Amino acid sequence: MTEPQNFYAEVGGAPVFEKLVRRFYEQVAEDEVLRPLYPEEDLGPAEVRLRMFLEQYWGGPRTYSDQRGHPRLRMRHAPFKVGPIERDAWLRCMRVAVDDAGLDDAHRDQLWQYMTYAAASMVNSNF
Ligand code: HEM
Repeated sequence: MTEPQNFYAEVGGAPVFEKLVRRFYEQVAEDEVLRPLYPEEDLGPAEVRLRMFLEQYWGGPRTYSDQRGHPRLRMRHAPFKVGPIERDAWLRCMRVAVDDAGLDDAHRDQLWQYMTYAAASMVNSNF
């Protein structure tokens, strides 16, 4: 799925992605399904990685690939069990973040559609 390159700029660039991902990880920190999956005590580095990835995907700076190489996200998630419960928990957290990001309806819907598609494609377990 390739998104228009101007989405990043249209929604307001870096501050919007920072807010989105910060809000997401605030939810993760409180989530009893997701929090135990994250290997590090400090969620800060994971927050930076997700933010860089999303910025790049939506047409912003390519810092993610400069630092991490090709995303290969399914492979990077292989160490973690991502079943329907984890997917739903991830989307629950992301829903709050997307709703609070201050986007207009069209951009919010576009972002949310992508998140549901991306989360479904990360599932690697039937249970
Ligand atoms: C990394 C969980 C979906 C993007 C991670 C990590 C976990 C995780 C535990 C390791 C944390 C870390 O970076 O140290 C999940 C679960 C998902 C999910 C349970 C449920 C479906 C997604 C989706 C995306 C995504 C849909 C993209 C839209 C990333 C990125 C990283 C990451 C970019 C860092 C990869 C790297 O460079 O190492 N995820 N994730 N994840 N996740 Fe997810």
